Amino acid sequence: MQIVSEQNMKYIVRYVTKENVKKECSSGFEFYQGEYLEEQFLWRDDKTGILYIGTGEENLKDANIIKELAAKACREFGKRKIHDFQADISTILQGGNSEALKLYVIGLQLASQGIKSYKSKNDNKEYHVQFSKIQGIASESIKRQIKEGLCLGKSVLFARDMVNMPGNMLRPENFADSICEFLKETSVEVEVRSGEELNKMGAFMAVGSSSKFPPYLLILRYKGDPDTEEITGLVGKGITSDTGGYCLKSSKSLVGIKGDMGGAAAVVGTIYALAMTEAKVNVTCVVPICENRISDSSYLPGDVITSYSGTTIEIKNTDAEGRLILADGMTVAVKEEKATRVLDIATLTGSVVGALGFTYTGVLCDNETLWNEFVQASQVSGEKFWRLPFDKEHEKMLETPMADIKNLGEDVCGTITAGLFIRHFAENTPWIHLDIAGTAWLDKTYYEYQEKFATGAPVETLYEWLHVNH
Ligand code: BES
Ligand code: ZN
Ligand code: ZN
Repeated sequence: MQIVSEQNMKYIVRYVTKENVKKECSSGFEFYQGEYLEEQFLWRDDKTGILYIGTGEENLKDANIIKELAAKACREFGKRKIHDFQADISTILQGGNSEALKLYVIGLQLASQGIKSYKSKNDNKEYHVQFSKIQGIASESIKRQIKEGLCLGKSVLFARDMVNMPGNMLRPENFADSICEFLKETSVEVEVRSGEELNKMGAFMAVGSSSKFPPYLLILRYKGDPDTEEITGLVGKGITSDTGGYCLKSSKSLVGIKGDMGGAAAVVGTIYALAMTEAKVNVTCVVPICENRISDSSYLPGDVITSYSGTTIEIKNTDAEGRLILADGMTVAVKEEKATRVLDIATLTGSVVGALGFTYTGVLCDNETLWNEFVQASQVSGEKFWRLPFDKEHEKMLETPMADIKNLGEDVCGTITAGLFIRHFAENTPWIHLDIAGTAWLDKTYYEYQEKFATGAPVETLYEWLHVNH
């Protein structure tokens, strides 16, 4: 998708509220109510066309609504094989969301690029969109919002594409290469660890050595604020194929195994957007990447392994591998990289889907300031999060007589115990944990800007949280 400045586009989209529908749309619109996302396409005599999209009675300050309204324009024009159009977003701007233009640009991009399919014929067409005169925003802000919107769109699409990529095309090495390639145009420093230097990371390697495709650990550093020692560590799960290991998944669950690196893809997308927009912040991503497989070097239930931090872990289930690789990733973030606050993100538990479904990311957090900042960011992005509780009784569920901790809780509250396992390795660093098992991958779409399968969530929120100096 490109934003262009050419005039004289043949097609235009306009937005009408339910309240104004009769005023703005006259003849030929007897049945048009301007309900939310209700559309009406009108040909004019000179073979130009106008697309009306209703905003109903929705609150036009709401970020999710703005992205949906943008996406709907691409979907409707796309159906008519129209890929170049002008957008009149004055109605949306009047809604009073100061970041509306950016959100609109994101919504356009997310709807304008279908999944990268491996069909031999691919007919993804590029859209060209021109904004009609934008009033009420300073031109500096217009430029900034378009730029940010384009960067963010690109980041979300990167995360989407990586998650959709088939496991045989995205071995750990390919994923590491794709990340390096994606970050090449940025100022992000990339350190790639592989081979023997990973051996000290016992929890990561317990999983990583199960496959003949070797593991990688990437450390990505963006230093946008040299005046402070504050560093936010982002640790993302990068399992490129999760078979479950010896606790093998059922055939039905194996269908989704390639999407288990959504956390890693999201942190990479985030650091890309921060670097491209020169955010004044220091961020270090730690990205452990490997497969979880069955082989004679696989770890087994009953094994006791020693993590990089020295904590001994009893393995109760080899399918609970995400928390193991994140544990060592967390140790790198707090001990080596000296992160002053940490976030970990993963497609971690099936239970989060049972609890919250596909539109809310599950969160655990041990610091009120951090949580409040995060909530504010989610209001800017329009992505949804729900904080779960945790307490001593949940921590107890991870105790075992055999080792310092075990990698499985009890039959209940699996999302909480998985998060708490990782928290153990954050030591006392302020910590926030995102379980995106429900939100990173969809079998059906919920919002206009989504495609089936990978969503690229929650890159936008991570970016807004860290990009504090708008
Ligand atoms: N990657 C899965 C979690 C998952 C499940 C992601 C469904 C997306 C959709 C994770 O590694 C896993 O297998 N978790 C187990 C943990 C259990 C063994 C404690 C689960 O949730 O079933
Ligand atoms: Zn698993
Ligand atoms: Zn997994």
